[in-house]
Amino acid sequence: MISFDENKKILKLDTKNSSYVIGIYDENYILNLYYGAYLPDCNLWGNIKRHKNASFSPANPHIPHEEFSSDVEPMEYSCNGSGDFRISALAIKNADGNSVTDIRYVSHKIYKGKPDLSPLPHVYLNNDAEADTLEILAEDKVTGALVTLYYTAFNDLDVITRSVKVTNGGGNALDIERVFSMCLDLPDMDYDLITLYGRHAKERSREQRPLAHGIQGIASKRGSSSHTQNPFAALLRHGADENQGDAYGFNLVYSGNFEFSAECDFSATTRVIMGINPTDFSWHLEAGESFQSPEAVMVYTNEGLGEMSRIFHRLYINNLVRGKYKYEKRPLLINSWEAAYFDFDTDKLVEFASHAKEFGIDMLVMDDGWFGKRNDDTNSLGDWFVNEEKLEGGLGVLIDRVNALGMKFGIWYEPEMISPDSELFRAHPDWYIHVPNRESSIGRNQYVIDMSREDVRDNIWNQMYSVLSKNKVDYLKWDFNRNISEAGSALLPPERSKEFFHRFVLGTYDLMDRLTKAFPDMLIENCSGGGGRFDAGMLYYSPQIWTSDNTDPIERLSIQFGTSLCYPASTMGAHVSASSRTGYETKGNVALWGTFGYELDPTKLCESDRETVKQQVKDYHKYYDLIHYGDLYRLVDPYFDPYKAVWSFVAPDKSEALVTYVIMREKFCDIQFIRLRGLDKNKFYRNEETGEVYSGALLMNAGINITGKIWRDGESLMLHFTEVKND
Ligand code: DGJ
Repeated sequence: MISFDENKKILKLDTKNSSYVIGIYDENYILNLYYGAYLPDCNLWGNIKRHKNASFSPANPHIPHEEFSSDVEPMEYSCNGSGDFRISALAIKNADGNSVTDIRYVSHKIYKGKPDLSPLPHVYLNNDAEADTLEILAEDKVTGALVTLYYTAFNDLDVITRSVKVTNGGGNALDIERVFSMCLDLPDMDYDLITLYGRHAKERSREQRPLAHGIQGIASKRGSSSHTQNPFAALLRHGADENQGDAYGFNLVYSGNFEFSAECDFSATTRVIMGINPTDFSWHLEAGESFQSPEAVMVYTNEGLGEMSRIFHRLYINNLVRGKYKYEKRPLLINSWEAAYFDFDTDKLVEFASHAKEFGIDMLVMDDGWFGKRNDDTNSLGDWFVNEEKLEGGLGVLIDRVNALGMKFGIWYEPEMISPDSELFRAHPDWYIHVPNRESSIGRNQYVIDMSREDVRDNIWNQMYSVLSKNKVDYLKWDFNRNISEAGSALLPPERSKEFFHRFVLGTYDLMDRLTKAFPDMLIENCSGGGGRFDAGMLYYSPQIWTSDNTDPIERLSIQFGTSLCYPASTMGAHVSASSRTGYETKGNVALWGTFGYELDPTKLCESDRETVKQQVKDYHKYYDLIHYGDLYRLVDPYFDPYKAVWSFVAPDKSEALVTYVIMREKFCDIQFIRLRGLDKNKFYRNEETGEVYSGALLMNAGINITGKIWRDGESLMLHFTEVKND
């Protein structure tokens, strides 16, 4: 719900439990008056006027000096060079060559529903009653830049989405140097900043630090959202934790270079900005042209980090992921990569499929190595035609044989790449990303192809379409295995060269859009050398993303706990593999917290592991809805406890809970308790294994003792509780 108080000049956005308040001040400055727990009223003007502390802060000459300076007031969308020295959300270089920017309120409108940000991925509504939108139109008078600030407030979820559009309404060309998707000024700095850092095989591990004076933050300039920092950040008030207290979450619906910064200034306030990384970015606007920023999602709750995550999860399950597999059960897959790498042929894959079928697995995925003359990673990316030396008689023969077993079939692509040793490269040596007169770096023996070019995209699309339209492909894994360096496009003129990175991302989105439209029933899984592009932008096109190449169940724990801060279980690709000494039971229990599948040679499993796998397949079906649509509770986070990890999924109606307990390292003599969360304290629940019945209150407050049930490093346990109904 969004309202405007004409007298007070205050705009108020309310979600179920949060409020966001914007004021229109003298001289049409737009100020950010509040973001936090729900307020019934909005008498907030007394909370500004911080100027007394700032004798060196320049001020607007038309407002008495003690009254106002943009350097200390909470600016709704901070501008560069006009007296606010904190980090700027917006900087526009005008025809004179300077980047002084100063936007003021012109008008606003409020309406039901949410604008469609296509071709950018975005959170969408299932019906207009879900949310209201506010558009504030602001203007920089000197340049004629018209800036539209978009806010959508959800009625039943504590979510506000934001984005910004800049239109050149003046007569001269402009260059946008920075345009962040959101800016938020909080009146204190008593928070910890939580971010997700990583690398290949260690993605999205939680990191937490108290805010300090100055600028702190995370960024990527790798051409993708990256393994090293995820475009997610949270502020957790000191004293708040997983279960209580103020938590703000920020996530960018974008897959390219990003920046999140928090600046604590001399008056101990905090400014947060999130959006496209301004490094190597600018956007040229001729008169009348517009630029639309990606969307940022903001969540606020006073029920701690756990509830913040659950809000993100609900939003992404219902309002971001699309297509057939949004709610339909996804096929349980086995992937050939760790089973065979590049060394396979039709017979070997069919053998994998026939063993997998015995376990109840639904789909065989043929990973890297089926095209061109690819037998290792040195060649053929870009040559998207079948290698008939491996797949004799073509892809159709393999698929028919797999289908004849009653299994579906999936395939691997890496559409944004080109090998120097490929037919495509020899035909189009200028199609890879490079800049003139500079040698290009190589990564995994490959270059990145120039997705900003339509002719390049058309070529890749035609190749893909030719394979996918002639064959029954049920699933596609879209990989991306290097970062972008020496970035440039042969088609961009110098004044637009810094548009390249964003145009690359738009090109990738265009190809993904073509794919989802042409093959709406195909399940797409994104991947980037594991989870190097695990972001909300990609989730708009693929309901699941391969979380990490690290499939060791113990090491996976910190990755999955970290990823879960923002992304739901149904999006996290998680497989059981052969590559760790931990037992199959724990491998399965950990992979169940995700999309679940296998990444191993099924012919090599011993008899007892085969039985374990069969049981896991049953568990997958039994707990599918609970894990995919239930509420996650992180009960013991390995970020705090080096010995164990415990989590649970609770059904939305609180009728059922599944708890998983993993011993990472045995701690001699400790009693092992599980205290559940999220149950109904007045309901009674049966432990399905023992038949014992407990109240929700007992399970949550006293907990249950599982000491002795599991002992050793790497052992794990699942407990299933179901509501006992009195009929
Ligand atoms: C990286 C992915 O993460 C793996 O799962 C696999 O698909 C390889 N690429 C194939 O090259």
